[in-house]
Amino acid sequence: MHVDCIVGMSLDGRIDWIKNPEKLSEIYYGLVMKTSYDAILCGSNTILKAEMDETSSIKYSNQTLVVVDSKAKIKNWEIIKKQAWWNEKPIVLCSDDTCREYLQTLEQLSIDYIICGKERVDLSGAIEKLEKKHSITRMRIDSGGALIGAMLRNRLINTITVIIAPQLTGGISPQTIFSSSDVSDFESIIDIRLEDCRTQENGYVLLKYSIVIANS
Ligand SMILES: NC(=O)c1ccc[n+]([C@@H]2O[C@H](COP(=O)([O-])OP(=O)(O)OC[C@H]3O[C@@H](n4cnc5c(N)ncnc54)[C@H](OP(=O)(O)O)[C@@H]3O)[C@@H](O)[C@H]2O)c1
Repeated sequence: MHVDCIVGMSLDGRIDWIKNPEKLSEIYYGLVMKTSYDAILCGSNTILKAEMDETSSIKYSNQTLVVVDSKAKIKNWEIIKKQAWWNEKPIVLCSDDTCREYLQTLEQLSIDYIICGKERVDLSGAIEKLEKKHSITRMRIDSGGALIGAMLRNRLINTITVIIAPQLTGGISPQTIFSSSDVSDFESIIDIRLEDCRTQENGYVLLKYSIVIANS
């Protein structure tokens, strides 16, 4: 599986309080539309916060939406299915702890799910199943720092592209692109290699890195 992560942030790495979000979106979607992906991986909080068009009937993409939702937070699946950015066959990643009623609801809605992991989703195992069962081999993450953090800690991301908005936000809440527990040794630090660097209009900067996998 090849996994790209593309994320917009302030110079200090925050993903919230982005000014002129439409400008960032223009650069973001300009970029994602250039590459063909089988799927988009989202966290449940990202889906809950996303603006949904309740009357949407067009489709810009045939990608599969894959959502991590072991806590059964998402209810509006019928509206989610209609959105333009993905096809009408989402896949939900659940764990052994996901409540039975939620799985039944997904079945009633003809939504596929994968159970992998005890309390939270075992992301590595789930990705293997996505590849084997659903032939998904190229995916992009559209998510906040919690899911990106878990994916990075498990070394499941190949490239990370950041679009830096020309702003400094500040603050101490963990709304950064890499939200996870603190490191306790240098081995846990993820080395990255700069692959591309471009300035955009109005002071936005795009940086693309590949993740250096240990021993490669
Ligand atoms: N600036 C950007 O480019 C951009 C892009 C997308 C989203 N966002 C913003 O990001 C914010 C949401 O970010 P977020 O980080 O709170 O939420 P998130 O990206 O939705 O991530 C939370 C998800 O990650 C899963 N998760 C977290 N740690 C895990 C672990 N160790 N193992 C397995 N799964 C794990 C959770 O699983 P469970 O199901 O188990 O809870 C949950 O589904 C929103 O405000 C959204 O608007 C910004």
